[in-house]
Amino acid sequence: MALIAPSILTADFLRLGDELRRAKGADVWHLDIMDGHFVPNLTFGPLLSAAVVKASEIPVECHLMVERPQDLLPRYAEAGAKRLIVHVEATPHLHRLIAQVHDLGCEAGVALNPGTPLSAVAEVGEDLDLLLVMTVDPGFGGQSFLAGQIEKIRRARDLLPNALIEVDGGIGPATAPEVVRAGADILVAGSAIFAPEADPAERIAEIRRSLHESP
Ligand code: DX5
Ligand code: ZN
Repeated sequence: MALIAPSILTADFLRLGDELRRAKGADVWHLDIMDGHFVPNLTFGPLLSAAVVKASEIPVECHLMVERPQDLLPRYAEAGAKRLIVHVEATPHLHRLIAQVHDLGCEAGVALNPGTPLSAVAEVGEDLDLLLVMTVDPGFGGQSFLAGQIEKIRRARDLLPNALIEVDGGIGPATAPEVVRAGADILVAGSAIFAPEADPAERIAEIRRSLHESP
């Protein structure tokens, strides 16, 4: 069964501890780290990430949408993240970056923007713990799912039989079944789980139900 990784991007930051406690059924916290350069948005950094790690019993992964990820990786490892996900578009030295993540004692994930071909990770397949296929252009929560990426998820599944395949962007009960059918192991969902007036636990349960109900 696919795992659900809520992104806290659209959670109520003033009540974050409460939001995390209410999101029962989450398997992994997905933290979207944005630097205002690699993507046109700024979020939070290692201090908040460490606070989430401290408050949680489930693993935390940091999705680094930043330039010069090599300079920042140690901070997120120190924060206690289990997995560090870097964008292939942010480095000419992907192999070195993956080795750095492993040396820091974390699992290594690599993310692909919608416009980046799968071949960008073909030569490092053996070293990857996880491939993150973006199904929106990164930078903001609440964008529409790019259905054209489903074929890439299928090809990723074939190319990387030993890596986890994660999908991020526009995931909810309407889109989760098709990405799981295409081979996704982990579903990141932000606005489908954390929204004003929503019960995050119920939203997670709804995504799970969609996976059972879909033919
Ligand atoms: C987008 C982020 C996603 C995003 C998901 O740049 O990487 O994790 O917050 O949000 P939704 O599920 O609302 O598309
Ligand atoms: Zn993300």
